[in-house]
Amino acid sequence: DHPAGNQEYDGGSSLDAYQWSGSGSTQGSCKTQFSFIMEIIFIGIAVILGIWLLFHAAIYLWVLFEEYVLPILIFCGVGSFFFWLIFWIFGIKETPGYNDGLIRVGMIQTGKESDWRDANTNDYLNTFTKERGYDLIYIDGNSSSERQVKAMYDLIQQKVDYIILQPIVETGWEDAIHAAKEAGIPVIVADRKIAVDETEYVSWIGSDFEEEGRKAVTWLDQYLTEQGRENETIHIVLLEGTEGATAAIGRTNGILHGVEEHPNWTIVDRGCANFTQGEGQTYMENLLSEGTVKDIDVIISENDNMIFGAMKALDRNGKSYGPEGDIIMISFDALHESFENMMAGKLHATVECNPLLASTVETVIEELEAGREVDKIYNTEENIYTYENAADYIDQRKY
Ligand code: AHR
Repeated sequence: DHPAGNQEYDGGSSLDAYQWSGSGSTQGSCKTQFSFIMEIIFIGIAVILGIWLLFHAAIYLWVLFEEYVLPILIFCGVGSFFFWLIFWIFGIKETPGYNDGLIRVGMIQTGKESDWRDANTNDYLNTFTKERGYDLIYIDGNSSSERQVKAMYDLIQQKVDYIILQPIVETGWEDAIHAAKEAGIPVIVADRKIAVDETEYVSWIGSDFEEEGRKAVTWLDQYLTEQGRENETIHIVLLEGTEGATAAIGRTNGILHGVEEHPNWTIVDRGCANFTQGEGQTYMENLLSEGTVKDIDVIISENDNMIFGAMKALDRNGKSYGPEGDIIMISFDALHESFENMMAGKLHATVECNPLLASTVETVIEELEAGREVDKIYNTEENIYTYENAADYIDQRKY
């Protein structure tokens, strides 16, 4: 059995296989054997050392964990538990939430452009109170349509029960309104309208703005006739509200139809002053300083605040106006301040636009809560007031 070529066969030790692949010389075989044993010893030592190191590293890490991390974890855990406990005991009863029994109403307002708007906002804030069963989320659009659209998506995300939308302009609402419908949130549009299919929202509540415009020109027609000026050329300046807003679109249409029916009436200038007093004043200042419009018989302003601004510009330029002056002054809204101006002889007439819409909106919500049908349109009752009857009504004005 002696394998060929092996000169010092050692009787079949465990090193056989190694030796067979060796050089074949006696000296080489001894060396190889020695280095093999050394290698085994070194590997053994390395393994033992490695295990020892790992073991100590693990102990060291555990000590670190126990000393620093574990106390923090325990502290946070216990702390969170106590916070949760306190919130659970007191918070649920105090904080309005999904189970507080309140109806969550999101309200998107246009901004703060006029006194009419302030009265309108206060009306909502006084109606949709906690005492009356509502949790109102009020969002001021800040005169930005983009902000209003974003607010609509925010309210959808908050899963409110109802959304009241008072849009600045009619356009740009398709997607946001549809998203609310898809989310099952009824939208009640108030004051101005939106240009979407009427199946997309529940109801619209507001004024017949075109009718308001017609009331203004009908009154002007009667007044000029009473003054014996029905055949005179009448030069009209028209101060318009925000472009694209239903209040401006409707009133302008009503006024322009009325003007068309009178061949002797002419609009000598018209432009937008965004329903604000400041812009009304600036617009009139510019018009007077340009000097291109020589004759002004009538100023029709699409809201009271713009005509208050125009009055300041007229005063500064020494122009007389009102029943005792040269220019016939007509505006819209019927603010308390307009009654004061009519009584002071500075304003001829103001067409009422009712800002107190919240109670009708609330009725719609109550009906929906009771599972009843609601109307698509709710128009408000409105009047026109003049310098002749202002004193009879001023005490009844609520805004
Ligand atoms: O949309 C209603 C109009 O908007 C009011 O006439 C005006 O004053 C308001 O800002």
